[in-house]
Amino acid sequence: MNDIEKNKRREFVSELMNKYVPDRTSLLPILQDFQEKFGYIDEYSQQLIAFELDIHPVEVNSVISFYAFLYDKPVGRNIVRICKNIVCEFNGSKEISDAVIKEFKINPGETTPDGKLTFEHVNCFGLCDKSPSMMVNGEIFENINKESALKIIKELK
Ligand code: FES
Repeated sequence: MNDIEKNKRREFVSELMNKYVPDRTSLLPILQDFQEKFGYIDEYSQQLIAFELDIHPVEVNSVISFYAFLYDKPVGRNIVRICKNIVCEFNGSKEISDAVIKEFKINPGETTPDGKLTFEHVNCFGLCDKSPSMMVNGEIFENINKESALKIIKELK
């Protein structure tokens, strides 16, 4: 990362320290705001945030690792999540996942080389009665099937 990018991140972290109480209780919203601006939370910025909050960088990284919606590396412009829990799987989510894997040539946890799509498996959206479910950029699609899921994903920019 060059100095210009580092400066941008330093300035934004300073803004966040003014926006939130600068202690560990603010870590999650700080990480969410940071990711919203920069797309992911790089190692340099994790250290900056840890320093400002007076916590160990490992703690910052642990929180990022714990939450599926936080990233420590770049992700695609679109994030597609398919539930792989038992109810959705019973109702066909594995077939849908397999279709996504085949069509876009990526495995769960990967991003297409053009940066268009990151594909993830998750454990239940809490919408089991409308399974199988898929989340695309935060929007839930219920009762999907292979065809409708692929259509939705292909229409993404
Ligand atoms: S099992 Fe898929 S939403 Fe709950």
